[in-house]
Amino acid sequence: MEDLKAKVTESVEFINQKSKIKPEIAIILGTGLGRLAEDIKEKEIIPYSEIPNFPVSTVQSHSGNLVLGKLGNKEVVAMQGRFHYYEGYSLKEVTFPVRVMKNLGADLIIISNAAGGMNRFFKRGDLMLITDHINLFGDNPLIGPNDEELGPRFPDMSEAYSQKLIELVKKVALKEKIRLQEGVYAGLTGPTLETSAEYRFLISIGADAVGMSTVPEVIVANHMGMKVLGISCITDLAIDGVIEGVSLEEILQIASNAEPVMTKLVKKVIEKID
Ligand code: HPA
Repeated sequence: MEDLKAKVTESVEFINQKSKIKPEIAIILGTGLGRLAEDIKEKEIIPYSEIPNFPVSTVQSHSGNLVLGKLGNKEVVAMQGRFHYYEGYSLKEVTFPVRVMKNLGADLIIISNAAGGMNRFFKRGDLMLITDHINLFGDNPLIGPNDEELGPRFPDMSEAYSQKLIELVKKVALKEKIRLQEGVYAGLTGPTLETSAEYRFLISIGADAVGMSTVPEVIVANHMGMKVLGISCITDLAIDGVIEGVSLEEILQIASNAEPVMTKLVKKVIEKID
């Protein structure tokens, strides 16, 4: 993607013409948070297809929207639908909307996803606060010439997920009696799920959960100096490399059961962010 900054600016100008909202918080409504969009008030919904420079959907049915509005006491911008590497997008395309949301004003991003759990203390349907990640995409959205205006050549990733936000989420979960796990998220390309040997490998390198998203967006958010909060919904388990077979229907059911809890947690956290 050439002249990234100019493309981001063009997208931002377009969005600013459609909405007066000046978001402080960006949200990627992945698995577990989809319905949070319904709670956004005074909202402007902009289909990705209308926004200049947004990736063009490869799948007809896979539509997506940028939703701007008010959530509790904050102005937010939310991505309803995200782009995955396994769909054929480059990591620069996958992460382009994150750059746009930052340039709309958001200094903080909340990201949710579905993940396979590997930690033996996890149960299906658990929420896992992401404390760190391992990039196993074999790629990085920052490869190529670096625009110093967007961020540094060699971004610091020592606090990829904000410690302050981690503490805040834990406090809220405790108060609200929400069962909350924490751990390291390994990001892989997919679309294949892991073999037993791969699950054992992932445990041995220190991962607690595995999925096919989030890592690229978190890298780009850090590149631009955004604070990151990540939460996984554990939809299936592979303990000691033994995969517990579940159908796609069951995975969707588990994600949908976890949704009200994740939504409540995130709403309370947003209220408390200063
Ligand atoms: N592996 C990779 N991605 C996933 C999984 C998994 O087990 N579950 C949900 N997304």
